[in-house]
Amino acid sequence: MPRSSLPILIAPSILSADFGKINLEIATIDTESDLIHVDIMDGHFVPNITFGPGQVGTMRAKKPFDVHLMIENPDQYLKDFADGVMKAVGAELYAQSYLVVHQETTKHLHRTIQMIKALGMKAGVALNPATPWNMVEVVLDDVDMVLCMTVNPGFGGQKFIESVMPKVAKLRELRPKLNIEVDGGINGETARVALEAGANILVAGNYVFSAEDRTHAIQGLRA
Ligand code: DX5
Ligand code: ZN
Repeated sequence: MPRSSLPILIAPSILSADFGKINLEIATIDTESDLIHVDIMDGHFVPNITFGPGQVGTMRAKKPFDVHLMIENPDQYLKDFADGVMKAVGAELYAQSYLVVHQETTKHLHRTIQMIKALGMKAGVALNPATPWNMVEVVLDDVDMVLCMTVNPGFGGQKFIESVMPKVAKLRELRPKLNIEVDGGINGETARVALEAGANILVAGNYVFSAEDRTHAIQGLRA
């Protein structure tokens, strides 16, 4: 599959930032970034716990949020996280921000997607590495983004799972204009592999936040 014609967007994941000074950390990357990737983990769907909606509301950023909900019963919390994003980025960037739910956590995916859109946000659906693309076939015309996990969700700093690439290529073949995001194990090398497969949004946690020069690291991912 050739590279997509869509612009490449970089979404640093603040999972790898210092949570004790999160707004200073965001300020080191938001000028250079396109989206700020915020990982929400509940200790049930994934074996780790991160931020609640109240904490999201204390964050401040100059770019839209890309909120990756790794939580069970996401419908119950969509409004709370949307409110948090509104506080964090304001009305204009709110409308450009994503709420992303995992297919594996929803009983009525189509309904959940409509709920996100009714809140005035962009809607995304995420797939674990082992979940096939056709689990989201029915909502491909409803979502603003499909997130293909390239690690098993829960932690930063894991190894990129290259066998997810045929799924990325299949989705790109089906929808040339759809945002396809990859998340997990992205560095200078794997970014290229994912872009060649057809992804156009790259999430990177460890690679960006452990870099001495974060701006340079982000620029390198676009190359
Ligand atoms: C993992 C998260 C990722 C994570 C990626 O469950 O969804 O967003 O922060 O981290 P790296 O880029 O370090 O693999
Ligand atoms: Zn993520």
